Amino acid sequence: MKKILVIHGPNLNLLGKREPQIYGKTTLAQINQGLEKLARKNKVKLTIKQSNHEGEIVDLIGKTKNKYDGILINPAAYTHTSVAIRDAILAAGVLTVEVHLSNIYSREEFRHKSLISPVAKGTILGFGPKSYLLGLEALLDLMNVS
Ligand code: DQA
Repeated sequence: MKKILVIHGPNLNLLGKREPQIYGKTTLAQINQGLEKLARKNKVKLTIKQSNHEGEIVDLIGKTKNKYDGILINPAAYTHTSVAIRDAILAAGVLTVEVHLSNIYSREEFRHKSLISPVAKGTILGFGPKSYLLGLEALLDLMNVS
């Protein structure tokens, strides 16, 4: 069975309560339920983690080599700052899809740059919680399991 690691970055534990005008009212638990449902349908195993700590995310990515077939990541604020997460993805060499709830290009200028996009296979953004489902579908497709 193929294995995918889902990583939610900082403050995504607050989804539902956090700036709902931008991120909506869906909670992280609800997003995870949707992902689990899609994973079950396609018979892949998901491991889902949320962390507010850059180093912890680096460690999680570092452990994926030869253990996971794909990574679905919303690096959240670290998208715009983290050379360390970018390097971890490069070092792991595991197929990675980046997702964002909001369209970072229609927001403040400091969000317009993603350090992660150049090392991800692709990026899906702007569709709210659906970005995650589309991201997982893209991974399944790339892994030939959908
Ligand atoms: C985000 C966009 C980031 O700019 C922001 O820091 C987040 C969430 C998104 O999913 O839209 O925390 O990654």
